[in-house]
Amino acid sequence: MQVYINGKIVPSQEAVVSVFDHGFLYGDGIYETMLVYDGVIFKLDEHLQRLYRSASLTGLTIPLDTDLLKIALYDTLLANALKDAYVRLTVSRGHGPIGLDPELCSQPTIVIMAQKSKDYPPTFYEKGIHIIIAETRRNLKEAIDPRIKSLNFLNNILAKIEAIRVNAYEAIMLNARNRLSEGTVSNIFFLKDDILCTPSVACGILDGITRGIAIDLAVREDLGVLEGEFTKEDIYAATEVFITNTSLEVMPVSKVDSTIYPVGKVTKRLHSAYKQEVGSYVARVRAEGPSLWGQER
Ligand code: PDD
Repeated sequence: MQVYINGKIVPSQEAVVSVFDHGFLYGDGIYETMLVYDGVIFKLDEHLQRLYRSASLTGLTIPLDTDLLKIALYDTLLANALKDAYVRLTVSRGHGPIGLDPELCSQPTIVIMAQKSKDYPPTFYEKGIHIIIAETRRNLKEAIDPRIKSLNFLNNILAKIEAIRVNAYEAIMLNARNRLSEGTVSNIFFLKDDILCTPSVACGILDGITRGIAIDLAVREDLGVLEGEFTKEDIYAATEVFITNTSLEVMPVSKVDSTIYPVGKVTKRLHSAYKQEVGSYVARVRAEGPSLWGQER
């Protein structure tokens, strides 16, 4: 694998970060993961907007502008000869003496990694996955703003460990007020009384880009959508459940704790609408040229 690190693309064994990097020492940094379909990074502008929002909420100045980041992303894809890929862009505070003060670090560390996109087993989409409601609560939104997509993942990892223990794929965390929030790396949706329900941003979640697309598609499909506060009993009483994120897209859920759900019509409809959205986005970006993507740059 070829990795972008601070302006250079090098083989992965040479892509090393200092032990004094504050990303390593304190989890002080931010990231985005994106999916590449047929050479086009899906919703790139939205991901970069969220990256700059995370940077601004943490007082981190990214030394590259949007166009330079786009070029770095596409150069990394080219260096790896990848057209269908998973890309992770990480920006840490950089290296500096030990201490929390961000001013100790003069230059952020920027890393881009790209690998072939994960092939989830088709049975995941056909039969659905098992998830749990974790005992681990979501960090208070008043303590760490969930709009910051940060390198601090211990809260999510503790919930993920609970899922792994019972062989479940994902863990949904409740917030401190006993309301559903989000998964360790995903947002949650469920169908109740024919209304598509999902925790609102006020519940302390990351406003997932896939979540936003799923809501728009549901509205376009004339479904009632409710962003609000829900309990785990609401999800147990649901008729369909699915989770969303950049790489899972719309993933059906067949079991939450011990409640079983079919892979229902609405989930299937939204998954195929999502695929269509990806297809038309890729076609639009390709038609727009000249662009930053692929060999044609
Ligand atoms: N995670 N909530 C959390 C806590 C997340 O980490 C993510 C994404 C999401 C969904 O966001 P989006 O639809 O924009 O991918 C919600 C990515 C996939 C990750 O950690 O790699």
